[in-house]
Amino acid sequence: MKKILVTGGLGYIGSHTVVELQTAGFEVIIIDNLSNASVKVLDGIESITGIRPEFEELDLRDKQATISFFQKHQNIAGIIHFAASKAVGESVENPLLYYENNISTLVTVLQQIQHQENIAFIFSSSCTVYGQAEKMPISENAPIQQAFSPYGNTKQIGEEILQDTAKIAKGLQVISLRYFNPIGAHASVAIGELPDGVPQNLVPFITQTAIGLRKQLAVFGNDYPTEDGTCIRDYIHVVDLAKAHVIALKRLLNEQHETSFEVFNIGTGTGSSVLEVIESFERVSQQKLNYKIVDRREGDVISAYADTTKANTILGWKATSTLDEAMLSAWQWEQKIRKTK
Ligand code: UD1
Repeated sequence: MKKILVTGGLGYIGSHTVVELQTAGFEVIIIDNLSNASVKVLDGIESITGIRPEFEELDLRDKQATISFFQKHQNIAGIIHFAASKAVGESVENPLLYYENNISTLVTVLQQIQHQENIAFIFSSSCTVYGQAEKMPISENAPIQQAFSPYGNTKQIGEEILQDTAKIAKGLQVISLRYFNPIGAHASVAIGELPDGVPQNLVPFITQTAIGLRKQLAVFGNDYPTEDGTCIRDYIHVVDLAKAHVIALKRLLNEQHETSFEVFNIGTGTGSSVLEVIESFERVSQQKLNYKIVDRREGDVISAYADTTKANTILGWKATSTLDEAMLSAWQWEQKIRKTK
């Protein structure tokens, strides 16, 4: 059984990926600094898979502790690296926190593994690297654009660091997954998204409004050049996204990759407007959502959805859940966590 290190494995996408890794027969060790996650997530993972993953509380900014961790665990075959901060607004206010949390830590991890004979590395990247792409759907060949925020910049720089390092580190093989907009929760509702404070993302804001935690959803602009005037995104079920990590990891472990640094878009290929997401929510929850149209939010791109041809054909992965299924799972999760609080 191959041992896989999942950094940030108690977070939203990390925890769903741990479940899929264990289901696929991998042994998992999680490190997490608990900055935006709870140890209770281990119970959720265990209740789904029947296996409690090994866990060490570790902050990758602590270089000495990170070095000791890698000295102690020399049998790691692959790393899925989620540990990072992800709030766009916060990154504008505190850029150095983002460069330290997302970049310095990546460098520290790579320093520990660069001489290893064979190591697979999956990086959490984002469609944010494309900015407002000229052509829809967005393929991996679309040019990288000047980042809107330090957060977005850390994803671009992270990819460059990995690409440069994979060129000289013979054993290091990397796949960078550029996520579109992950939403939803595991069907068991044992794990899901746990936003810290007021959610910045659309779907948790919708479910928190419906449950009564927020008064009203503000829809940021309906004067965009789209069919209904609201922005278009590619909302992907988090379980579909989690499965893409396992497939990408196997590609590296089975040495099926073509180069030591590969990039794949991970989305559904379908764009949905903000109003379509609200309609989907109203359909699956059978209730009206209290929302109003307000001004545009600064920094929002008009439209972003994936060309998934490369992931479908080369990776052999395809998203299977519909928007309604993802919204229903998000709603069931919201209802469950408010009941048990
Ligand atoms: C945002 C980030 C992106 C990051 C991703 C991580 C920005 C500009 N982009 O993506 O870099 O990778 O989160 O999860 O912050 N909306 C509303 N009302 C709300 C919240 C959102 O109308 O209260 C709209 C937004 O205008 C947007 C859509 O919903 O059109 C999706 O927004 P969001 O969930 O924040 O995702 P992104 O902005 O696509």
